[in-house]
Amino acid sequence: GAGALAVPFGSISAKSASKLADADMPIPYRTLLTVPPILQPYAVGRAPDGAKVHYYSVTQKAGTARILPRLTTPILGYNGIFPGPTIDLLQGTRAVLKIRNQLPQTHPLHGHTLSTSTHLHGSASLPQFDGYASDVTPPGFAKNYEYPNFQSARTLWYHDHNVHNTSENAYSGLSAQFCMHDPAERELLPQNNFDVPLTLSDAMFAADGSLAYDDNSHSGLWGDVILVNGKPWPVMKVQRRVYRFRILNASISRSFRPTLSTGEGVHIVATDGGLMPKTQTVDSWRHAGAERYEILVDFSVYQPGQRVELRNLSNKNNIDYDFTDRIMAFDVTDEPVDTSDPTWKTIPQILASHEVMDLRPARDTRVRKFRVKRNDDVWVIGEDSWADIIASGYRRVCADPALGATEIWEFENSSGGWFHPIHIHLVDFQILSRNGRAPFSYEMGPKDVVYVGEGETVRLLMKFGPHRGKYMIHCHNLPHEDHDMMTQFSVGLKPGQVDLNDPMKAAP
Ligand code: C2O
Ligand code: CU
Repeated sequence: GAGALAVPFGSISAKSASKLADADMPIPYRTLLTVPPILQPYAVGRAPDGAKVHYYSVTQKAGTARILPRLTTPILGYNGIFPGPTIDLLQGTRAVLKIRNQLPQTHPLHGHTLSTSTHLHGSASLPQFDGYASDVTPPGFAKNYEYPNFQSARTLWYHDHNVHNTSENAYSGLSAQFCMHDPAERELLPQNNFDVPLTLSDAMFAADGSLAYDDNSHSGLWGDVILVNGKPWPVMKVQRRVYRFRILNASISRSFRPTLSTGEGVHIVATDGGLMPKTQTVDSWRHAGAERYEILVDFSVYQPGQRVELRNLSNKNNIDYDFTDRIMAFDVTDEPVDTSDPTWKTIPQILASHEVMDLRPARDTRVRKFRVKRNDDVWVIGEDSWADIIASGYRRVCADPALGATEIWEFENSSGGWFHPIHIHLVDFQILSRNGRAPFSYEMGPKDVVYVGEGETVRLLMKFGPHRGKYMIHCHNLPHEDHDMMTQFSVGLKPGQVDLNDPMKAAP
């Protein structure tokens, strides 16, 4: 079962409201959903070993977005758009992504230097291409990131990871989806127009339409306007067939519990790391920041003209004009359906095996335990904050598994009032248990973010590789991450061994 609805955060203050005039405030279901453009490679080549390589180029720059009915909103975006362009490719196609930082020297609202570090979340990248927080590219410079893309089909996303300012930078617009396909997934699930990215986020606005930021003393930002692909509570026209939605929660802090207004179930087919072993049909699911769930919704059971809402059962902001319990709507049309596409009416039940889901713990599998909590003004994972990592010259690590080792990591959240979506870079993991019991059905797939709710203890099973090096682990509530809920682990490094790929060239 879906289990109890844990309280996702402490009480939300009335400050979490936009300062917009009534006529500037968006109204749910008035704006059409849009889908970000697919980024085209500027060149295609071959690596020495024969693998295909896509060369992409993206410019980080200031831009404006049409979010509100009458006002424009300044943003910082990949190619100046919000959300950024989607990268879409086939497993085995390597990518070189040139990120040109053409942002202003300093953030127009927050004043920090607009250096950036780009992380492809869900990719097993080498350390120097992983968006290591302290490995930054200043305005006026560019960096090539290389992605191996050997992994199975999945929904990834790229976002800024600049040390101590990830939250403001991602909130200002520096995030986008990256969809990786493979033959198994192409066969089983809807494609093209019926394979739709839905990036959820929340925002709050100043009276002039600019983004307002208040992280409530580094607890979290709870915007009162819900965005999907950068549009407020949009509506999408759908045919009477099965659709696949790649739902990414790109919110800074907010978690959702999506559900359909019709009471119809949602078929979860993929988690962060790609296809689940089996489809799981649920009424709702908890969806924290950075988690990806791919779902199938069968609109063939509805009549033309019917409206199906995607609602949010998670906490409301408790302000007068409060629509944070809504996400978006689907309007069912009578447009003819191509029934020669076998996915139009199929909900496959058996999906794919991912090696992390086949791992089983042994009696001697090493267990490492981390408590997540607030120590005075900083959040910590185990013993560390990122300030401790910086103070150690990037040498300190919280764990040092051998290359290829399988381990169990346990995260315990016994501090009241908070939940933490914990993200481990490099690896996919299996959630073994939640409070000693089976995980929720919808999270029985490969994951790289785990929702650690208030009073919850989770156990994760993973195998470390395929690269050596030091990788981050952090809370994906971004104000937590920036203050300073992030540490690092090393894979396959002996104490004192300098990894050639280490962007900071620091031995553990
Ligand atoms: Cu999505 Cu370390 O991040
Ligand atoms: Cu946290």
